[in-house]
Amino acid sequence: MPGIVLVGAQWGDEGKGKITDLLADDMHVVARYQGGNNAGHTIIYQDKVLKLHLIPSGILYPHIISVIGNGVVVNPAVIVQEMDELNELGISTENLRISHNAHIILRCHEVLDGLSEESRGSFGLGTTRRGIGPTYADKAMRVGLRMQDLVYPRILEEKGRLLFKLKNEMIAGLYQAPPLDIDEEMEKLRHYADRLRPYIDDTSLIIKSALREGKNVLFEGAQGTLLDLDHGTYPYVTSSNPTAGGACTGTGVGPRDIEEIIGVSKAYLTRVGSGPFPTEQSNEIGEAMQKLGQEFGTTTGRVRRCGWLDTVLLRYAVRINTMTSLAVTKLDVLSQFDTIKACVRYKYGDELFEEFPVHQEIFSRCEPVYVDMPGWGIDISEATTLEELPPEARSYLQFIQEEAGIPVKIVSVGPERRQTIVIDGGERRLEERKFLFQDDLPL
Ligand code: GDP
Ligand code: IMO
Ligand code: MG
Repeated sequence: MPGIVLVGAQWGDEGKGKITDLLADDMHVVARYQGGNNAGHTIIYQDKVLKLHLIPSGILYPHIISVIGNGVVVNPAVIVQEMDELNELGISTENLRISHNAHIILRCHEVLDGLSEESRGSFGLGTTRRGIGPTYADKAMRVGLRMQDLVYPRILEEKGRLLFKLKNEMIAGLYQAPPLDIDEEMEKLRHYADRLRPYIDDTSLIIKSALREGKNVLFEGAQGTLLDLDHGTYPYVTSSNPTAGGACTGTGVGPRDIEEIIGVSKAYLTRVGSGPFPTEQSNEIGEAMQKLGQEFGTTTGRVRRCGWLDTVLLRYAVRINTMTSLAVTKLDVLSQFDTIKACVRYKYGDELFEEFPVHQEIFSRCEPVYVDMPGWGIDISEATTLEELPPEARSYLQFIQEEAGIPVKIVSVGPERRQTIVIDGGERRLEERKFLFQDDLPL
């Protein structure tokens, strides 16, 4: 076996790209299972900053087969551009395989994403406008175009024209916007079909064969638990299932093929786009996190909203994904604060919530209940072992571990690969220092 899922525990941008890169050495296959080029993973590769949106970061390693699973939505123009950019850097894309069942993002989907956002005005979701929602909607409507439709020119012609016709009716009829030139769009599609045809494959079989041979497969989640269409902060979510269950439906393996589920969480919290965020710091604290953490969206360049860690949400993410361990990233960004806060409960009226509230109204209006912990005030970005961290930083990790109820096994203290602490036997090593603030908990 082992199949390992790497999943975002928050609203995305937890640093999944860096952790995937870190684990890559031991992997045979790295597979994306959902989302599209709304994702943006920043990886430092041989001193270069690489931003990947669609191709799994496993592509940097020649021993890895990089899979784009059936649950991903693929924009042909973006994937071809990403392949070209990688090739220019001397990175081969020979080991890329794209599922025959992955749906295709077309220009009409991008246009409709933008038109829909504009028509919602102040109720907009703050999407990346990459056509994600409209493409998944077409998948559910059973009118979508799939990668396998690129294989046969006649089918591409028939299905492509029909879809563009339907979408043009929406663009012009519903939004009174200029329709797309179907001949021009079809011409582009034929060109991309020629480029992508050799990469289209039965990726479920590729993954299963690797697992049968006892090789490691990493299922790389995009976005995060709270952006999950079913389990996230609906409607301010994406249109796929980033949670661990999505790894099965999005690649064609079964739950028994998964052995480990690693959740990636920042030591604080960020969000891009609209929607409630109880621990948001719209003040100098948030600005300081944003500045030191370089919190700008990888895909759209938007400033990320920043706030303290929310353990109510973290525990929820652990439960929804059945996470087995945590990777805590960006601990170094908290070095600048004298006091570190973390939310442990929500207060709504006289009621306290230990679990993620059922009703959105409560989540939107609740007040976070914080615990205060002392900061460490020194640079930790060169630490490579737990022992090199100041006691306050270790206590904070211990706190996270106890709140989450699962061991912290990886700690990231900087964007580079070497700026990482891997904790063997996670919970035991951290337990040496007991959580200092238990008695101070307000509840
Ligand atoms: P992803 O979407 O989850 O892969 O995350 P992004 O790549 O969008 O955003 C994470 C950002 O944080 C990237 O710019 C990373 O280079 C950076 N990063 C990752 N881990 C750390 C860390 O431990 N410390 C700091 N300072 N930056 C980090
Ligand atoms: P990675 O993989 C952070 C957010 C958007 C918006 C909502 C819906 O880099 O962690 P969509 O375009 O998906 O319909 O937008 O989801 N969003 C992300 N936020 N990181 C991401 O990906 C995101 N992908 C989508 O900002 O709020
Ligand atoms: Mg990102």
